[in-house]
Amino acid sequence: MIHHLRAAGTSFVLDARGTAVPAVIHFGADLGELDQHALQNLAEAQRPAIGPSSIDSPLTQRIVPLMADGWSGRPGLAGYHEGTPISTLGVQHTASLRLRETRHAGLNLSLVLETIPPVVGEPDATALVAEIDIEMSAQGVVRQRLSVRNEGSSVYSLASLDATLPVPARARELLDFTGRWPRERQPQRHDLGVGTWTRDSRHGRPGHDAAFLLVAGTPGFGFRHGEIWGSHLAWSGDQRLWAEASATGHSLVGAGELIEPGEVRLATGETYRSPWLVSAWSANGLDGLAERLHGFLRSKRPLGERKLMLNTWEAVYFDHDLAKLTRLAETAASVGVERFVLDDGWMTGRTDDRRALGDWVVDASKWPDGLHTLIERVHGLGMDFGLWVEPEMVSVDSDVFRAHPEWVLSAGNAELPQSWRFQQALDLSNPEAFAHVLGQLSALLDEYPIAYLKWDQNRDLLGGSAHRQTLACYRLMDALRAQHPTLEIESCSSGGARVDLGVLERTDRVWPSDTNDSLERQSIYRYTAGLVPPEFLGVHLGAPTAHTTGRSHELSFRLATALFGHAGIEWDLTTASETELDAIRVWASLYREQRALLHSGVLVRADDVDPARQLHGIVAADAMAAIFSVVTVAATRDSAVAPVRFPGLHPDLVYRVRAVKLGEWPRVLQDAPPPWWVHGGVTLSGRVLGELGLTMPLLLPEQALVLHLAAV
Ligand code: DGJ
Repeated sequence: MIHHLRAAGTSFVLDARGTAVPAVIHFGADLGELDQHALQNLAEAQRPAIGPSSIDSPLTQRIVPLMADGWSGRPGLAGYHEGTPISTLGVQHTASLRLRETRHAGLNLSLVLETIPPVVGEPDATALVAEIDIEMSAQGVVRQRLSVRNEGSSVYSLASLDATLPVPARARELLDFTGRWPRERQPQRHDLGVGTWTRDSRHGRPGHDAAFLLVAGTPGFGFRHGEIWGSHLAWSGDQRLWAEASATGHSLVGAGELIEPGEVRLATGETYRSPWLVSAWSANGLDGLAERLHGFLRSKRPLGERKLMLNTWEAVYFDHDLAKLTRLAETAASVGVERFVLDDGWMTGRTDDRRALGDWVVDASKWPDGLHTLIERVHGLGMDFGLWVEPEMVSVDSDVFRAHPEWVLSAGNAELPQSWRFQQALDLSNPEAFAHVLGQLSALLDEYPIAYLKWDQNRDLLGGSAHRQTLACYRLMDALRAQHPTLEIESCSSGGARVDLGVLERTDRVWPSDTNDSLERQSIYRYTAGLVPPEFLGVHLGAPTAHTTGRSHELSFRLATALFGHAGIEWDLTTASETELDAIRVWASLYREQRALLHSGVLVRADDVDPARQLHGIVAADAMAAIFSVVTVAATRDSAVAPVRFPGLHPDLVYRVRAVKLGEWPRVLQDAPPPWWVHGGVTLSGRVLGELGLTMPLLLPEQALVLHLAAV
C-alpha cells in the first residue's frame, strides 16, 4: 500500500507496496486528497528511467538506504554479528531487509522490517528486526525513529542506525551551525555538491559547535523565502547529522547517534532504539520552518507563565554571602523579579571551580542555617527559588571522589581522562553512582522548596560511553521529575552546548549561551529560535560591560535584547542606579504584560536591505498584535536608511504602531526624526507595513528600537 500522511499543508508519501524496503516518494507541499489509485499513478510517475551501467531496476530512495537495494551512498543501518565467518562478512544480510508489516493509523506509521534468511527454511543465526516509527504532527512536522532488535544467536555490534529523508534535487544549498563558548549557533552555508557533508559531535553533548539544525533548500533561501527541508536530531549525546548528494541525482539528509566501535552490542533479544529525527518542510524559508517546529514543540511541552528571574552567577560568582544575596533578592523583588536562582557556589568547599562538584551538600560555613533563611526571605519577597546543580560531574577534590574514585567516567585505562574546567564526569551508568546523585538531589528537593533547577554540564566527556551516559542523564532527570512533578529544569551546558529536543523532552528552558553581551545575543537568539520557541530560551539582562566580551552597551539595548525569550537578570542589581532600576521596572512590567504574546506568537525574522539593520519580532497567532525589534548590529550602510518592512502581519488589518521606551530611547544621530515619530505613532495597514514599511529614526550602531503594534 502507498501511505499518505497530510497535515498543515504538508504531504509525506511512502510506497510500502510489496516486501521491498519502503521508499519515500515525497515530503513537501500538500498533494491533496489522493486515493490508492491516484497514489499509484503518482508513484509510477516518479519512478526513474534505468540508465546503462546501473542497477537493472529503478533506483528509489528507500527509508533505510542499503547497498543491497543498489544504494552506494551512506547506509541507514550498519553493523555485524560477532563471529560471522569472514567469508560472509561484507555480504552479510544486515544489508538486506524486507518489509514484514505496516501499521498505519491516522498520522502514525509503523514499519517492521526483517532480514532475509540466507537459505530458505534454515534458521537465521544473524537475524535482525528493524522497526521504524514515522509520525506527522498537526503542524506537518515529521519525526521518525528506528529500532533494531537482534534475533540472531550471536551478539550484534551496531555501527550506525540513521534516520534519513530524501530531499529533492533542487535543494542544493545547505545551512547548519557551528560556534564556540560563548558564541553558539553561528550559521554556515554552502552548496551541496556530490558527496557527504557530515557534522559529527563527539563531545558527549551536542557541543557549542553543534550542527543543531541542518537545512537543505533552494539556493538563496532566507528567513522568509525559499523552499527548505530542515532536520534536527533530538539527542543530547554524540551524534552525526549529514546531507549527501549522489551522482545519481538523489540527495538525502540523515542523522543518528554516533556510536563508537563496540559501544552498542546487542545480545540475542536486545533492542537499540535511535533518537527521533525531527524534520519539517517550508515553502516560506526559515520562518515557515520555525513556525511548524515551534507549534510541534509547544504541543509536546506546554509551559506555564515564564517567571521573570534573577540568576546570581555574574552578580556574585562564588562569593556567597547571605547578607549580600539578601540585598540582591530584595532589589530583584523591587523591580518585579518573580524567581531567584542561586547559581554555583553553595556546596561545601565550593570556593572556585576547582573543587566540590559531586558533593551536593549545602556549605555550612557559608550557610550556617542551610539555605532556609535565604529561601524564606525570597518567598517573603514574593519570589520562588531556584538552585544550580551539575549532577553529572565530580571534582577530584571532593568527598565523593575520595570515597569512590572508581565512579569517574573513564576511558578504561589507569589514568583519569583529560580534565576539563578542572573536573571529571561521574559514570551515571554505574548504578551506585546514579543512586548517590539521585539520593543527594532528592534530599535537597525534599528539604528545600526548590521550584527550579538550573542543571549545568560543563565538560566534554572524552571517555566512557556517551550513549550510556546520555541515557543515564535522561533517566536521572526523569526520576527527579517523577518525584517532583512541578519541578522546572533548565538545561545549561557551559551556556549552549546542550540545546536539543531530546533534553527539551524533560526540561523547561535552555540557556543558549554564557554571553550576556546583547550584540552576541541578537545573533544567538536569531538562530536558536529557528528551532526552539522563544519561551524556552533564557535571556538575561547583563551588566553594562559584558563579562564575556568586555563590550559595553547602553541599558536600552540590553533591555530590548532581554525582552525576547524567557527573561531574566544576571547583574548585581545592588550596584545599579535608581534611574537604571526604574528603567528595569518598566521593562519588567512590559515583559509581564506582553509575555502571553511573546511566548505564543509567530516568530518573524527578516533581512533588511541594509545589512547592518535586522528585524525580529513576534506576531500574535491571530495577528491582532505584534512586538518587533529593529536592531542595528553595526553602523548602517546608508545614511538615510530605507523603511523597515514588517512581514507576518495580516494585510487587511490596520495597526497602530508605537515605539516602546525602555529606559532611554535608543541613541540616534539625526537632525530630525521621521514625522511619525514626532506624532507619537502611526496607523497603517498590515499590507502597507509589509510591502512598503516604515522609516526609522537613524539608530547608531548596537541599538534596538522596540515597537508595539496593535490592530485597531
Ligand atoms: C556555566 C554556566 O553556563 C554558567 O551560567 C554558570 O552556571 C557556571 N557554569 C557556574 O559554574
